[in-house]
Order: sequence, then structure tokens, then C-alpha cells
Amino acid sequence: MQDAYRITELGQDGFGIRLEFKSGDLEDVFATLAANVDVILDRFYTARGLLVIKGMHGVFARPQALVELSRLFGSEVENYHQTLTSPRFFHDSEEEILILSNDPPCNHLPPPKVSRDDGLRVEFPHQPNWHSDQSYRRPPPDITLLLAVRVPPPDQGQTLIADCTRACAALKPQMRERLRNLNGIHAPSWIGRSREAVEQGEPVLDLLPHQLPQQHPLLRRHPVSGEDSLFICEEKQMDFVDGPVAELEVGPDGEGARLIRELLAHATQERFVYTHRWEVGDLLITDNRNLLHCATWYDSDSYSRLMWRTTVMGNPGDEYQGEEKSWIPQDGSQIMAGMDHA
Ligand SMILES: [Fe+2]
Repeated sequence: MQDAYRITELGQDGFGIRLEFKSGDLEDVFATLAANVDVILDRFYTARGLLVIKGMHGVFARPQALVELSRLFGSEVENYHQTLTSPRFFHDSEEEILILSNDPPCNHLPPPKVSRDDGLRVEFPHQPNWHSDQSYRRPPPDITLLLAVRVPPPDQGQTLIADCTRACAALKPQMRERLRNLNGIHAPSWIGRSREAVEQGEPVLDLLPHQLPQQHPLLRRHPVSGEDSLFICEEKQMDFVDGPVAELEVGPDGEGARLIRELLAHATQERFVYTHRWEVGDLLITDNRNLLHCATWYDSDSYSRLMWRTTVMGNPGDEYQGEEKSWIPQDGSQIMAGMDHA
């Protein structure tokens, strides 16, 4: 027990930590963070990249503080005006903050309520939309910070986080060897390449070079822990036209799709998943390099949900060493040109 803060374990098998500050004053919180950043980051990575900071209400009045806090987790806090992001997700004043809300103009709706069971089923395919943020670019963001500004009741609109490091270690050795030389093809959800779009025969959007789907290894080595993790996404964020796995049979019923489905069902088993029940002021920090996440259903007719999100980058791993950002146009075109309907 420290004087100014306390860290406790969150989930099972050492997955995740919870950080609470004695003082709710934002200046005190920042001073404590600055004085203890090495210890906190060390605990964060030991807990495989899952951290919940409680009581961050002070940020609501000073959104720039979220950007400052994000810098503790990566050298570059991303500017969403310079990524493949629709303007309806932009924050009013901070270009580094993305809005997730069912309210206009964002209109980001929850997934459908797929089951009438009282118990929450977390595993794919019962729970849809498992993904790693912006995996359709190289390099993808390292870490996501998500601040709860308005939330529905805690039994709705939860965030599920799957520990793909543990899931990878639990694979049969033959499967790990099979995956070692395979690459997944990741694509934005709105360009006609998702599983659903392909099955429904939607047109495939013509893309500029910087908007094209991108490949990542199915087994990704974490640059801090050195451990291998599964790096996959669900059907909305992979390419079912030319993938979802390079060099395997393409399409929704091909060998690549079967492999991704098998891996998703494995990685999102209850034993690898932490369920976050939100309280206003929670700041959830998740490492995209080795975790998957998704939101659960909530009653968006009755409740408003508002999240502020930042993402940071700067240490994606050897795989991406020396690469230019794939999503920055080299020909002077607009980043979202032709994709504005997203
Ligand atoms: Fe996300």
C-alpha cells in the first residue's frame, strides 16, 4: 500500500491491475503518476497490458489532460484527423480524442442483443465484434485509453478484454507452428470486405494506396514482454475478399476464415476474458499488441453512452521497424477520400 495510490489485481491469472489514487484532484493524480511512472508501467506490462484507473472525473473539465496522460504510455499520441477515421468521431476541441457514443453526430450503436440468456456469454461467435483497434494499418496503435464520461447501468455496455498472450500459450504446439509463418489481412469494416459485406454481395470499394488492407503476423511478438500473442480480428475488421489469411483459401467459407474462427473461439473463452463493468470516471487502458476487446449490447434507446478514446504508438515491435505509416497518403490526396461515408 502506497500513500498516494494503491494497485490491486483485476482478473484471473494476474491479468490486469486496478489503480486508485488517494486524492481525486487531477494535479495530485498527475504528480503521483509522474513520480511512480516506472513502477506503474512495470506492473502494467507484468499484468499483460490491462489497467483500470478509477476516479478520473477531473479529466472531464480538461480533456487535454487525457492527451497528457496518454503520453506516459507511448511516445506519440495519435491525431485522429490524420488517421483513417470519419469526422463524426472527432472530439470538439482535441484532435487526439475520438468519441464513441450512441448520440449524434457520432451515432455509434452497440452490437445487437444476440441472446436472451441472463448470463453474459463472452466467447465468439456468441459475442460479436472482437477486435484490436485500427488493425487495418501498419503499424497499428500500441495502446488504447478509454475514458467513461457517460455510461449505461453496469450490466450493459460492458467492455470485454481477451488475453491473447495466454490464449497463444494454451494453443497446441502444432497449431503455433502452423501460425508462425501466416499473416492475417486486416481491413476497415466499411469498404465491402467484411464477412457480412461479402456474403451479402455488397460492392467492394475502390481504395487509394494508403487505404488498402494491411497484413500482420497471426503470431505477434510483444516488444516489451517478448512473448508471442495471437493477433487476429473478427469478421468486420478482416478482408474476406483477398483473405482473411494470406496464402490460404479466401472468402467467408475458405480455409483462412475457418482458421480465424477457430482462433477467435479459442482466444475469447471465458478463462481468458476480463469483463469491465463501467463506472463514470473509469479510464481503461489496454495494449492492442496482445489483447482483443469488444463492447457488449446496451439499451441505446434508454441510455446515453459517451467514451473519450486516445491511442498511442511508438513501439510496435521489430516487425514494423523503419516502416513509414501505411495510412499517410504519399500523393497529396485526402486521407479519407472516397471513404467519407464511414
Ligand atoms: Fe475498439
